[in-house]
Amino acid sequence: MIILAVETSCDDTGIALLKKDKGKVETIASVVSSQNEVHEKWGGVYPSEAKREHQKNLIPALTGVLKKSNFLEEGETPEHPEIENILWRETTLLSNLKDFLKKYRVKKIDAIAVTVGPGLDPCLWVGVNFARAFSLCLDLPIVPVNHIKAHISFFLFSDKNVAFPVVTLIASGGHTELVLMKDINSYQVLGRTRDDAAGECFDKSARVLGLGYPGGPKIAAEAAKFSISNSQFSIKLPRPMKYSDDYDFSFSGLKTAVLYDYRSRDKETQQNKEYIALMAKEVEESVTDVLIFKLEKAVKEHNAKTVIIGGGVTANKTLQEKAKEMTLKFEGVELLTPSVNLATDNAEMIGATAFMSKERKNYKEVEAKPNLKISDN
Ligand code: KG4
Ligand code: ZN
Repeated sequence: MIILAVETSCDDTGIALLKKDKGKVETIASVVSSQNEVHEKWGGVYPSEAKREHQKNLIPALTGVLKKSNFLEEGETPEHPEIENILWRETTLLSNLKDFLKKYRVKKIDAIAVTVGPGLDPCLWVGVNFARAFSLCLDLPIVPVNHIKAHISFFLFSDKNVAFPVVTLIASGGHTELVLMKDINSYQVLGRTRDDAAGECFDKSARVLGLGYPGGPKIAAEAAKFSISNSQFSIKLPRPMKYSDDYDFSFSGLKTAVLYDYRSRDKETQQNKEYIALMAKEVEESVTDVLIFKLEKAVKEHNAKTVIIGGGVTANKTLQEKAKEMTLKFEGVELLTPSVNLATDNAEMIGATAFMSKERKNYKEVEAKPNLKISDN
């Protein structure tokens, strides 16, 4: 079975082609077009710009993936008249799709998987409408995919048999959740952030320090430069909600603490490399400390046999090391961590999740759901 997967929920345009053979999921080809340069000037994602970029990037990404996979033939795919109605708001995408259809025929694919939510409404709609239009031209069913579930589906690429119960930490730019899975299709949210997501805290702190976007990798790179022996500064950031009697998080106060400390310093200090490295280290320590502390509490309380971490923030090396250290305290508990390219947004994880789904929809039944929850179908 072959699935074409589409991801446009935030600022990465992802297309991937995957196959499932004898129970094993494999990526045939995958492209992620990053919009980091576009959003750098805002220090965050600007939805209308992101939508425009998705429209521009989708067909080149599609063509790249299908060419690499040898799934394109010279020729013409008949254009379905309904695509004009589906893509009337996405005119750039419509015209790119028409050019594609005039030039190519696509070899046999079985379904199109697309992220329907959660995410930014205008961004989700670009991917959803593309999937709807393309599915009509190729006469394929659509598999709607929940983006948060997709963030922990990377384990499907390995041969591992996951033992339940599973406790998962999903930490990205939009979400921070601890979820208990008693089996493959049950998701019980134990706790989530009450305000900013962990990734948002990295991004906003990086913006205060003038490090650019996305902030997570920039903060991590600065933190790695920190050396305890030559620091002339002292910063102690809070560990918000660490000891609260639940599994919730709160990261907006942390970002504010970064801002207040920064503002209290003179210009020279604000630009001092050691100050920036120390602050980055403190942000990384604080966020990862709280995340891992609560993850450990959940593993203990629910007798987890497997711990899965996923989402952009879990690309963070310090977080991965702390997760490993924590898991080693529990005999027989296995930790599954994604590679960097599967931690941050991509279409491979969307395709992998689709292989687990029995849903097959037609274009009229699929819509963007910006507020979808992990526990929703
Ligand atoms: O999963 P993702 O690509 O998109 C969402 O679904 O939100 O996550 C993006 C987030 C951004 O906030 C980014 O700063 C953060 O993940 N991130 C990191 C690292 N790499 C990406 N945060 C900390 N350390 C990293 N190495
Ligand atoms: Zn994501």
